[in-house]
Amino acid sequence: MDHDLPGYTFGDPSLPRSPVTMEELARLKLTAGLTDQDLAALRRAGRVLSDRADAVVDSWRQAIASVPHLVAAYASAEGVVDDRYRARVRERFKRWIEDLCFRPWDQAWLDYQHEIGARHSHLAKNKADAAAAVPHIPLRHLIAFAAVINQRVRPFLAESGASADEVEGMLDAWCKATLLSVTLWTRPYVAEVVW
Ligand code: HEM
Repeated sequence: MDHDLPGYTFGDPSLPRSPVTMEELARLKLTAGLTDQDLAALRRAGRVLSDRADAVVDSWRQAIASVPHLVAAYASAEGVVDDRYRARVRERFKRWIEDLCFRPWDQAWLDYQHEIGARHSHLAKNKADAAAAVPHIPLRHLIAFAAVINQRVRPFLAESGASADEVEGMLDAWCKATLLSVTLWTRPYVAEVVW
């Protein structure tokens, strides 16, 4: 457990268990076509991206900065951006990269994915940081932003010195893993019967 990182509660015994089962996670991996080869490439991608984590987050945040309805997620209803909130979330963003690429996708990881989904939604947004920002990120924007998350890691992988084939392999694996993670985040947004 990492009590050093404000708001990061991975592995915390008080964290609710994800309603998604390990069996369902295994099926989702099959749906996403995620292979053992991908998991190895994901670890290589993780080494590149975690070394450059601040620059990676800067790149994602540049994309947010140009879209007013995304900037609003870190701001009050009056539009005042909360820099303390942004700074705390940045550190957990960086930890997510490491968790996604290096941790086993076990029950604790599954539980924290559920928590991250809730933190984007009205269920728990702002709570970890006692922030006073807008209370909810619409599901449609959560999903659509995966396009930016994925596209913007390519230059970092390309600059790593890996061959073109290795870069494609790392990017493929990263895209599948990100989509799978975001898929788990959608669970607290929707009724079980439709999920
Ligand atoms: C694929 C899409 C996205 C990814 C991969 C992503 C990733 C993350 C991660 C890793 C965290 C920290 C989770 C933690 O607390 O440990 C986070 C929190 C947050 N993200 Fe996203 N995010 C995505 C979409 C969005 C969008 C579209 C917005 C809108 C601007 C957004 C705004 C936020 C905010 C405001 C928080 C803090 C939530 C809180 O109050 O705890 N995210 N995100």
